[in-house]
Formats: sequence, structure tokens, C-alpha cells
Amino acid sequence: MKFVIVAAAILAATAGGAAADGAGIFDTSCAFCHQSGGVGVPGQFPRLAGRVGAIAAKPDGKKFLPQILLHGLSGRITVDGEPILGIMPAFDTLSDDDIAALLSYLTGLDHAAVPFTADEIKAVRAQPSPADMMAERARLSAAKIVP
Ligand code: HEC
Repeated sequence: MKFVIVAAAILAATAGGAAADGAGIFDTSCAFCHQSGGVGVPGQFPRLAGRVGAIAAKPDGKKFLPQILLHGLSGRITVDGEPILGIMPAFDTLSDDDIAALLSYLTGLDHAAVPFTADEIKAVRAQPSPADMMAERARLSAAKIVP
């Protein structure tokens, strides 16, 4: 794990410029649960590879993804036919740039990448959080926006 963090830091340092490193942020903040490459653990941690890109391809889904990162999600969901009852912590301490880079990276795993901008994240952050993230997810799931 230490090696991964050091490698990510070196990658970030050599990337040049101020661009946030979505893959590096994923490896340090998310891969512990969602696994390297976002493959998930059936029945425990949702698969993100292939699913996040599909969600981001629809406007309502593109707004829902930053909401998950800013507000978290907890309750019973179904992913790949398996129920998951877990807690996704909020990551609202990440900057708009970092969340945009992270989500852009995730959409490109097993899917055509869908770029997010820091302004899009800023706009969602400025809005009140949905009263019930689980109800919002259920709505998007029924509409086949969240697979
Ligand atoms: C402590 C473990 C943990 C960490 C760390 C974590 N997640 Fe999650 N994540 C979960 C769980 C568990 C769920 C499902 C929540 C539920 O059961 O309601 C989830 C749900 C999600 C979802 C929604 C999936 C869906 O089908 O609705 C996304 C997107 C997501 N996580 C992205 C991330 C990203 C990006 C990071 C890193 C910034 C991250 N997660 C870090 C555990 C984690």
C-alpha cells in the first residue's frame, strides 16, 4: 500500500502543471473499497468500471455522480444482481478540480470517457443536497440511468 501511495505521489509530481491526477486520487482514496481499476467486490462494493461511464452519459446521471461524492450514499442498493448494504463516505473535502479529474478518469474505465469540469462540480456543490440520496438513486435506477 505504501508503495502505491509513493508511486501515485511520484506520478502526480511528474505529471506537470496543475492538472489533478484522477487515477492517483482513485488509488489513494477509493481503491481500498472499490478495488484497483474500479472492478468492485460483488455484494460488498459496487463495480465502478463500465458503470460510471454509462451513468455519466445521461444528464441526470452526470449530476448524480458529484452528488454521491459530495454527500455520500448509504442504504440497500442492487449492483450486478447482488444486493449491497453499505456506506459510501462523503468526500466533500476533495476540491472541485480533484472530483472532476476523478470522475473523468472513472468514466473512461471500460467505457468511452465522459469529461467533467471543475465548474460542473462547483455548480452541484452550490446546490442543496437531495433530501434523500437513496430515493434519488432509486429514481435513476427505475429510469435505467443507473445500471
Ligand atoms: C469505505 C469504503 C468506500 C470508499 C473508501 C469509497 N467508497 Fe464508493 N461506495 C462504497 C459503498 C459500500 C457503496 C454503496 C453504498 C450503499 O450500499 O448504499 C459505494 C458507492 C459508490 C458509488 C455509487 C455506485 C452506485 O451504484 O450507486 C460511487 C459512484 C462511488 N461509490 C464512488 C467512489 C469514489 C470515486 C470513491 C473515492 C473518492 C469512493 N467511492 C470511495 C464504499 C466506498
